Amino acid sequence: MSIHKKRVLSGIQPSGKLHLGNYFGMMSRMIEYQESNDLFCFIVNYHALTTIHDKNELKDNTINAALDFLALGMDPEKSTFWVQSDVPQVTELTWLLSNMAGVGLMERSTSYKDKIEKGLKPHMGLFSYPVLMAADILLYGSDIVPVGKDQKQHLEITRDIAIKFNNTYGDILIIPEASINQDTKLIPGIDGQKMSKSYGNTIPIFAEEKIIKKAVMSILTDSAGINEPKDKDTPLFQIYSMFLDTEGKKLLNDRYDTPGLRYGDLKKELFEKTIEYFSPFREKRAQLSKDMDFVYKTLEIGKNKASEVADHYITKIRNATGLNY
Ligand code: TRP
Repeated sequence: MSIHKKRVLSGIQPSGKLHLGNYFGMMSRMIEYQESNDLFCFIVNYHALTTIHDKNELKDNTINAALDFLALGMDPEKSTFWVQSDVPQVTELTWLLSNMAGVGLMERSTSYKDKIEKGLKPHMGLFSYPVLMAADILLYGSDIVPVGKDQKQHLEITRDIAIKFNNTYGDILIIPEASINQDTKLIPGIDGQKMSKSYGNTIPIFAEEKIIKKAVMSILTDSAGINEPKDKDTPLFQIYSMFLDTEGKKLLNDRYDTPGLRYGDLKKELFEKTIEYFSPFREKRAQLSKDMDFVYKTLEIGKNKASEVADHYITKIRNATGLNY
């Protein structure tokens, strides 16, 4: 008898060079879900099209995201791991759901408004982004969608659309629950702002060692003298803490309160810790990138597993809406 596992689903933006913020903020937690849930995880290259219009950039980012995830421990045997566009049924569902998505609801999307404010040109892809995301979630009968606070509204839109659909056509779609990670740690970059590619303040994970070293050594510190107690609400303290367990954090805390601590020494330690922590993953990634056939084959297996579930739901949906005549 098999125990019914919850289906946990998440889409990942293929956004270029992976950094500590991505890893500790989202990826490590995501990969853990595969141990006790039915994890569905995919690279959202259709969503990426809303901002990336360069063919090679999209291809490179997609395959790099796949390599990153596989290197960090995504296990295609335990989970279903694929590239979004390999299951194009999701675009059909997007169209069907568009007819359930009120324009008023969509206009209240804060992420759309933010993007326009940041200077992105408004186009229908950006505007429909949450409908495509709803289709991602509903096509696979997801129970739980773990997201950061910034995606909470997208989950509300998804539920709203799904309820409207079910009220119209019968109980076809599973209404998903968001799992909002309340303690989403804001991981600071080397300048103290949120670590983000767009701020150029990241510590990359898979770059050459000297690049990682340079980033770590340039973490912003204050001018506290060697024998003064030090401020812990600072990027060096917070980034270092990511690598520590409760006991380790306590020790670091004490060191910050005790005279004699040099920031320079701490940065060297942090660099060594970073390399030590990620070296098995770095080796795995190097090895995978020499065997791209294996990587493509793995993605194809994921595509087949995901397609089977997608076909099950899309058939029900086509029947319910009258498209199958
Ligand atoms: N919008 C999400 C983000 O920017 C990515 C995403 C696309 C997603 N489809 C999804 C997340 C489905 C969860 C479920 O991070």
